[in-house]
Amino acid sequence: MRLVVDQINTYYGLSHILFDVSLDVAQGEVVVLLGRNGAGKTTTMRSIMGLTPSQTGSVTFKDCDITKWPPYKIARLGIGFVPEDRRIFPDLTVKANLDVGRKGKHIKWTYERIYKFFPKLEEMANRPGGDLSGGEQQMLTISRALMGNPDLILLDEPSEGLAPLVVKTLGDFIDVMKQEGMTVLLSEQNVKFALAHSDRAYIIDNGQIKYHGLIEELEKDEEVKKRYLAVTDHAIPTNCQP
Ligand SMILES: Nc1ncnc2c1ncn2[C@@H]1O[C@H](COP(=O)(O)OP(=O)(O)OP(=O)(O)O)[C@@H](O)[C@H]1O
Ligand SMILES: [Mg+2]
Repeated sequence: MRLVVDQINTYYGLSHILFDVSLDVAQGEVVVLLGRNGAGKTTTMRSIMGLTPSQTGSVTFKDCDITKWPPYKIARLGIGFVPEDRRIFPDLTVKANLDVGRKGKHIKWTYERIYKFFPKLEEMANRPGGDLSGGEQQMLTISRALMGNPDLILLDEPSEGLAPLVVKTLGDFIDVMKQEGMTVLLSEQNVKFALAHSDRAYIIDNGQIKYHGLIEELEKDEEVKKRYLAVTDHAIPTNCQP
């Protein structure tokens, strides 16, 4: 079971967005796609998922060429997708939101296991999903995707907009998923978070893969981080200090 993205070119209308993007994720790996705003992270995930299929190149999963498959079929083959807008059903209960994702008979991620990790979801099980905080909603969308029993999960910028404590819970959860043998492709702008929880990294910039390597290598590569990821904190000019 391996995901292989091979030289895909993806367009929105006439706009050419992804240029020969290639990446691969092996079974049990956590791989991060790093890149700034507008770099092409979401478009890459949408291309994998068949939501914005690539025009050339190929996406292969479990040795099937899924490049032109419709999204529902790709999901059925075992890819779960948690989009960046983390949409839940606000009027359905938390438990009903989880049910929406349920698929297959042999469910590895039961309510019990999910609740054990996110007690808040159990506490709120019978309350409307809309009553959850942003961070809790993010946990719910990931949990819902897991209820679909995927072999590979795509997490599009999961830490975006979350409070530091919630980001920590999310990181712990990614570690748990990895221990459980889940394969994960996540996209991130939060370099520190991504490096702490991934095995390998790709950097995308202007729709092109500019770097790939092991986390340990990227961590040491200040030049690459500075060029593509702007990890330095913006200095606040002294005349604007609060
Ligand atoms: N529906 C669309 N129609 C036209 N252009 C789009 C559309 N969605 C995204 N783009 C453009 O495609 C490029 C890549 O966008 P994408 O959303 O993949 O980036 P991203 O890395 O996910 O950014 P972010 O961190 O902001 O989520 C950007 O230049 C963006 O303006
Ligand atoms: Mg995005």
